[in-house]
Amino acid sequence: MQVSSRRQVVAGNWKMNGDKALVEQIQRHLMVADLKNMDVVICPPFPYFGLFDSKVKLGSQNISQFDSGAHTGEISAATLNEFSCEYVIVGHSERRADNHESNELVALKVEQILKAQLTPILCVGEPENVREDGTLFDYIAAQLDAVLLQVDISQFTDVILAYEPIWAIGTGKTASPAQAQEVHAFIRGHLAEQDANIAAKIVILYGGSVKGNNAQELFSQADVDGGLIGGASLNPEEFLSICRAAN
Ligand code: 13P
Repeated sequence: MQVSSRRQVVAGNWKMNGDKALVEQIQRHLMVADLKNMDVVICPPFPYFGLFDSKVKLGSQNISQFDSGAHTGEISAATLNEFSCEYVIVGHSERRADNHESNELVALKVEQILKAQLTPILCVGEPENVREDGTLFDYIAAQLDAVLLQVDISQFTDVILAYEPIWAIGTGKTASPAQAQEVHAFIRGHLAEQDANIAAKIVILYGGSVKGNNAQELFSQADVDGGLIGGASLNPEEFLSICRAAN
């Protein structure tokens, strides 16, 4: 089994789920778990931010591309900084679909996140028809290139990438370890065309129906450095077992 030397990261994306009881349960589980040498991040709905103990690393599910102003419903980097948020999920396929976030808008958001010294978790991934018609790598390259046009490769030392095939999100249809590895290696190789050193160090997470019983095999792939977890992050026991698989 190959284990990468990069820092392992597991982030739980609660999406529009969870409640106060889950905040309490997840904290209780995390406090007693002995998870050293890895980062565990929780990305809850915003109102729960203030309920977390300061030891828990928090991530936002969104950020505005603007600094401040009349943008109802949006959240700024400055606000996130005030609430000890360290990570921001950006380019998630659900926001790309529900909120029409283009590759170009995602790039502006990544720039905003880095300017605020937060860590973007930049999501890329293809719909099923793109995989079937054989244009998978072009699709992922276009998602990456839009960001590389806006943000210099040197700034990618502070970026986490997440490969989330859309057909695997919330469907129970996980990418096979080989399928995940193939795309992760492609992403790393694509970045290496600009800077091999940075590409070798960048953390690339896999997301899409990761569960306690498949995490170990996925995370053991050479270019898979942890996971971005949706449904299973709402079950403290299962989330912990996924974290342990990355540890
Ligand atoms: P699931 O783990 O529920 O498939 O969700 C993955 C995801 O979208 C995480 O951001």
